Amino acid sequence: MEEPDNHQMDRNQNRNETKRTSIGAPSTALAYLDPHYWDERFASEEHYEWFKDYSHFRHLIQQHVKPNSSVLELGCGNSQLCEELYKDGITEITCIDLSAVAVEKMLKRLLSKGYKEIKVLEADMLDLPFSNECFDVVIEKGTMDVLFVDGGDPWNPRPATVNKVMAMLEGVQRVLKPDGIFISITFGQPHFRRPFFSAPGFTWSIEWKTFGDGFHYFFYILKKGQRSSDSNGVKDNVSTTTISLFQDELENEDYIFRTNIDEMESQN
Ligand SMILES: C[S@@+](CC[C@H](N)C(=O)[O-])C[C@H]1O[C@@H](n2cnc3c(N)ncnc32)[C@H](O)[C@@H]1O
Repeated sequence: MEEPDNHQMDRNQNRNETKRTSIGAPSTALAYLDPHYWDERFASEEHYEWFKDYSHFRHLIQQHVKPNSSVLELGCGNSQLCEELYKDGITEITCIDLSAVAVEKMLKRLLSKGYKEIKVLEADMLDLPFSNECFDVVIEKGTMDVLFVDGGDPWNPRPATVNKVMAMLEGVQRVLKPDGIFISITFGQPHFRRPFFSAPGFTWSIEWKTFGDGFHYFFYILKKGQRSSDSNGVKDNVSTTTISLFQDELENEDYIFRTNIDEMESQN
């Protein structure tokens, strides 16, 4: 994989100076697959928000998540998403992350702020340690994207990538209540995500919205049990076929994360 253009990276990194860490962005997106990378990073980083913060998609969350919803967040990292949900009255929240350091620091942070009802567990989203049908909402922001960093051609991902993504989605479908909702916040465009979301065996309808200026991020809403037998489950969308990359609009690491995918797309 080629390295991203240095000038572009510098510009992007300057933009987020206040969030810079001693470890920061890796030189290759493949590092995002390495649990040690995350542990090391979270040891020194207090807060980093992937794909925009809550204020950018709060209006979308509020349409689908009710105060009495039980919510599972996959790959919380050191994001403030769970705190923001809590402040909006959604108090039954469980966060998981593969990184023990992220979990320990998140617990400490939430306790210090008095959000002691929020549960935080070290767990793998590919093997969810929860019983069937126990959450109203499962949400992930930038976590599923990690599975794609070594996926190869996004039009035809490697079998190992497909297996991991399917294991994740099968787990999500399993832990969702019969009328539960999976929310996925990502820059993964519908033509790449839809084949996974609409795979046989999933019963969710598929809907998406976009948010963000210039570059659009995607907010997918998958409603379990709502796929009609005569459709592929796609209910609603916003036209996305003409979206191009305004890379100046991407946050610094969103750009690096994205680079791998752009290279693969340009080869097609
Ligand atoms: C790109 S960051 C996103 C963090 C956070 N969701 C946000 O919006 O800022 C990906 C996160 O997923 C976690 N992660 C990676 N693989 C995971 C897995 N298999 N199960 C659970 N968490 C995982 C990483 O430790 C990291 O915290």
